[in-house]
Amino acid sequence: MSVLFFMDSGLGGLPYLHWIQKKKPEYRLIYLADNQAFPYGIRSEEFLQERLSLLSGTIIDLYNPALMVIACNTASVSALHILRQRFNIPFVGVVPAVKPAAEASGEGVIGVLATQRTVQGDYLKDLIRQFAPDQKVETQGAPDLVDFVENRLFSATDEEINAILDPYIEHIARQKWNRLVLGCTHFILLRPWLEQRLPGSVGIVDSTEGVGQRILSLLEENEKKNTRITGNSGTPVTEKGQRGVFHITGTGYNKKAYQAAADRYDLDFRAIKEIG
Ligand code: DGL
Repeated sequence: MSVLFFMDSGLGGLPYLHWIQKKKPEYRLIYLADNQAFPYGIRSEEFLQERLSLLSGTIIDLYNPALMVIACNTASVSALHILRQRFNIPFVGVVPAVKPAAEASGEGVIGVLATQRTVQGDYLKDLIRQFAPDQKVETQGAPDLVDFVENRLFSATDEEINAILDPYIEHIARQKWNRLVLGCTHFILLRPWLEQRLPGSVGIVDSTEGVGQRILSLLEENEKKNTRITGNSGTPVTEKGQRGVFHITGTGYNKKAYQAAADRYDLDFRAIKEIG
C-alpha cells in the first residue's frame, strides 16, 4: 500500500491533494494541517526549517510515504532545500508560479499575492530575476486573506468573502495587473470569487496543475523502477477501507470546521496527539 503525504500550515494544501485524489485514487493520501504553528507567513526561515524537519521526521516514521508534498509556498521557499538534505525521500515543493505568468503576461504587469515571509525572502526575488527579468512584477503580502481563508471561508457568506477581497480587486485594477499569481496556497481556495470579480484581461495563475503533473511523473518514474515509491508491498494499490487521513496539530481550533473539511475530501479526521 502506497502513501502520499501533503502538508500546509492549514487548509491551503487541500487543492493539491484533491487534484491527485482524482487522478490516483489507488494511493492513500495523508494530510497534515500544522495549526499549532499557523500562520507560517510570520515565522522566520530558521523556525520553518526546524518545524518542517520535525513534522517530516514524524510523518516518515509513521507512514513511510512514497512522496512528501510540501503544499505551502512559504514552507517550500524557506525549508525545502534543508528537508532534501536531511531526509532520503522525494520531496515536491510548491513555489509561486512566476514562470507561467511571465510567459503569458507579455508587456503587462504581473502581480504576486503571497505571505509576508514569501514576499520578503530571496527565493521569490530569484524566481523573478530568473523568469521575468525584463518584466514588471509587483509582490504583495496578504496576511488578512490567509487568516480569513483558514478561519472563516467555509462559514462565510458571499458578501463577507467579497468584502475581504474588495481592496485587492481595487489594487489589481489600479496597478493594471494583467496576471495574478496566487503565491500562497490558501488563495487557491478563493479562486472562484476572484474569477467572478476580475475582468477577463486578468489571468489567474496558480501551481496546482504544474505541481500535480510533477507528482504524477515522479510516481510513474518510480512505479516503473519499482523502487521505494511503490511502497513496501511493491504495488500502489491501497487496501480496501484504508481511507486517507486529515491530521491537525495544536489545540483550540474549531474542531467542527476542520472535521467538515476532512469529510469534504473524504479523509478521516485525527488530532496530532493520536499520531504522536
Ligand atoms: N499556505 C501557505 C503558503 O502557501 C502559508 C499560509 C500561512 O500559514 O501564512 O504560503
